Amino acid sequence: MQLVTDIPSLKGIIEEKKQKGLSIGFVPTMGFLHEGHLSLMRKAREENDFMVISIFVNPLQFGEGEDYEEYPRDLERDTALAESTGCDLVFSPSVSEMYPPGYATFVQVEKLTEGLCGASRPGHFLGVTTVVAKLFNLVRPDRAYFGQKDAQQALVLIKMVEDLNMNLEIIVLPTVREPDGLAMSSRNKYLTSEQRKEAVVLYKSLKVAEALIRKGEREAEIIKENMFKTISEAKQAQVDYIEIVDTKQLSPVSRVKGRCLIAVAVKFGQTRLIDNVLVEV
Ligand code: PAF
Repeated sequence: MQLVTDIPSLKGIIEEKKQKGLSIGFVPTMGFLHEGHLSLMRKAREENDFMVISIFVNPLQFGEGEDYEEYPRDLERDTALAESTGCDLVFSPSVSEMYPPGYATFVQVEKLTEGLCGASRPGHFLGVTTVVAKLFNLVRPDRAYFGQKDAQQALVLIKMVEDLNMNLEIIVLPTVREPDGLAMSSRNKYLTSEQRKEAVVLYKSLKVAEALIRKGEREAEIIKENMFKTISEAKQAQVDYIEIVDTKQLSPVSRVKGRCLIAVAVKFGQTRLIDNVLVEV
C-alpha cells in the first residue's frame, strides 16, 4: 500500500492505472477510521481493481466554533487499518496542498443543502461538495462509497455528480452500529462515559418512529413528538432537529407516505451526533 501526500504523485499513479484499464474504487474519509469506514473500504476492495482512500480533515466543511482543531487524527493507526482491508493507496494531503494560497473555486448544490444539517451548519455542504469534487477529479474513481449515516451528504453528492455530469457511480452502504445501536462515528470519541450511555437515545427514537409507523401511525407531528419524548429521557441530550422528509427533495412531510427519511441530530455538550432511518409505507 502506498501513502501519497502530494497531488502530482497521485495524478501520476492514477494515470498509470487508467492506462492499464483498471477500475478505481474510492472511499473519501476524514480519518480516525472505524468499522463504518472499513465496511465501505471492504466493498470498494471487492468491486474494483485499484482501491484508494483519502484521509483529509477538510477545514472548509467546519463552521466557526466547530471541532476542526479537535477532530481526532491518527494517520499511523489509519494507514494500518486501511492496509488491513486491502487498500492500495492512501491519499493524505496537507491543507495547503488542497487549498493553496489564492484558492477561489467552490462547488455548491442548492436546495437539498438548505434543511436538516444544512440549516444547523451553514456552509458545511459547500465545504463537502468542494472537497469531494476536487478529490473525484484527482482520483478519477469509477465508484465512490459513502455511508447512509450521512444520508443528506450522500444525496447532495449524488446530485452533484448528476448535475456536473461526473463519470462515476456513488454507492451508499448501510450505517454500521455499535452493539447498543449507536451509529459509528469518529465523533463518538468525544462523549463522556455518561453521554455515551445516553447517546443510544438517537437510535431508540428512530426505533420508536418505525414501530409507530408499523402500527399505522402516519402523522409526522405525532411521530416526532414521541421521538422527542424518547430523546428527552437522556438528561444531557439537546435536540438539534427531528425531521421526517421525502427522499427526493428532503422537504418535511406532514404525513408519512411512500419513501421517507427520518433523521435526528442531537447534541451532547459540544458533540453533535446524527442518525437516520429510511421507511417505506
Ligand atoms: O463524510 C466525511 O467524512 C466527509 O464529509 C467527506 C465526505 C470525507 C468529505 O470531507
